[in-house]
Amino acid sequence: MKVNAISEHFAAEVSGIDLREPVDGATRAELNRLWGRYAVLVFRDQPLTPPQYGQAVQIFGELMQQNSTKYTLPDHPLIGFNSTNDLPRKADGSLRVRGENYHTDHSNWPAPPKATSLVAVQLPSSGGDTQFVDVRAAYDDLSDELKARIARLRSRHVHESSRSPRMMAKLSAEQQAKSMLQPLVIRHPESGRLALYLNTARMEGIEALAPDEGFDLINALYDHATQAKYEYRHSWRLGDMVIWDNRSVMHQANADYDPAEQRFMYRAMLKGTPLVAAFS
Ligand SMILES: [Fe+2]
Repeated sequence: MKVNAISEHFAAEVSGIDLREPVDGATRAELNRLWGRYAVLVFRDQPLTPPQYGQAVQIFGELMQQNSTKYTLPDHPLIGFNSTNDLPRKADGSLRVRGENYHTDHSNWPAPPKATSLVAVQLPSSGGDTQFVDVRAAYDDLSDELKARIARLRSRHVHESSRSPRMMAKLSAEQQAKSMLQPLVIRHPESGRLALYLNTARMEGIEALAPDEGFDLINALYDHATQAKYEYRHSWRLGDMVIWDNRSVMHQANADYDPAEQRFMYRAMLKGTPLVAAFS
């Protein structure tokens, strides 16, 4: 197995492993160590069937049901999919993709998924990259004053914030009612590293701050964390499997590909635990 770091702060490409085959305990431990360090792992040339994908992704944890059962494979309900065919079009004919601004998945759940993963099954001829930013490095770079100011703040994450920059998918009433007060700064349960926890589509201001002040703070932190220096941009190849840590990075999708072309990805999520506040 070979490991190559692919951006300055985080993300690594792992080669020399065939994820269609079960891995032994030592390999499993090493992959988890790498994932903890790099937060985004890229495996090229993995033409996985849904059951093989389910097995591969569980090297890192336990599969969970995603919030939209509409987009799961009929024979494999824990494997979701993203397909061009299901995407609504904007007035100008371009695609409205899910995840089109930086976010962390299902952040309005009491225990958001610790990981999300995608496998590229069909790709457009160009575009459709997925971008990641390292919210641990972004936190580390904040001034001491700002760190002190935000240390104990919390935000209520709802299905769709009143100031969300994008329209969220319509889900069941039960799913849309989910809301959770989450720390603004979290501590990773394994590595202990601190990170910003942001999702502008779901954060309904900041608890204890007036609405405008809260949203201004969220937007300032978002602008800071989404600078190019914290970014890894993944250009997909067929058979890529990528897995990322939702407590260490934010991600976003791109709607920049031809709506007539097909982009089809399997998506899996791994069960998480309630987030840990960095400071109590
Ligand atoms: Fe997402």
